[in-house]
Amino acid sequence: MPKTAKRTPAVKAKRVVIAIPDLYTNFFAKKGEERLDLFRTVAHEYAIKRAMYAGSYVHVTPSFVIPDMVYVDNDKRAKAFFKVSENYAFVHTRKEYIEPCNLVFYGLDYTSKIGEPENSFDLLISQYAGLVGRACKPYLARGGLLLANDSHGDAGVAALDRDYELVGVVNQKCAESIDGDDDDTSVSETTDECKSVSHRTSVSTGVKERKYEILTNNLDEYFVPKSAKVQAQVSTDYLIALGKGVQYTKQAHFYLFKKV
Ligand SMILES: C[S@@+](CC[C@H](N)C(=O)[O-])C[C@H]1O[C@@H](n2cnc3c(N)ncnc32)[C@H](O)[C@@H]1O
Repeated sequence: MPKTAKRTPAVKAKRVVIAIPDLYTNFFAKKGEERLDLFRTVAHEYAIKRAMYAGSYVHVTPSFVIPDMVYVDNDKRAKAFFKVSENYAFVHTRKEYIEPCNLVFYGLDYTSKIGEPENSFDLLISQYAGLVGRACKPYLARGGLLLANDSHGDAGVAALDRDYELVGVVNQKCAESIDGDDDDTSVSETTDECKSVSHRTSVSTGVKERKYEILTNNLDEYFVPKSAKVQAQVSTDYLIALGKGVQYTKQAHFYLFKKV
């Protein structure tokens, strides 16, 4: 009988497997990444009732403040999460409006046809998930808003799009604007303009919530590239090829564009 070669056990990389029902808690709630006040501030200011969040993963926080939400993501864990309604039943206990909560999920590539009427959404949400503002623009109503960050260049692309007009920016609040009843003012991140802070503790998660404010002044100062070289060549195609935002002289955490 031939001698069997001794097998060396493969060294397995340590992989933490998070159960599907816990995805929201682990990725958003526990990390202080719910961004609830961001969606609350925008929803209240613009009376948002119906929104689409493409590239949402399992980030269902908008449903706490917006009654009619459509989520789109092609990640297999997101699909598994939304398959079981118990996984996101907690939105009903955290919702801040009196209407019933309507939540729909499409496990699709957001560049494909989504089964929702065009021009029917008050708000389109784009966060760290590619060029949502461009791909899902048909679903946004005229006069509706795109809330985007520039992580993947989506805000920069929208700024160059004639169908969009910059109407505001959203920043985490500066330290000096914190109310006296807050229990902590720890600096968590800095922007060009101010130090932003985490404050107030969420009752449900015990994690500090960040507060946000909408600014609408001096909007023409945004989207001016820092580098003269970039300024000379910046275009939609340039940003798409780059796949990320470029440095601008003045930046915000999030941008609000109106579809005109
Ligand atoms: C980095 S995560 C961001 C999740 C969430 N938006 C947030 O702010 O935490 C990016 C998500 O976008 C999704 N995504 C990226 N491109 C997509 C596409 N073309 N269609 C659907 N989902 C997409 C990924 O599956 C992933 O869940």
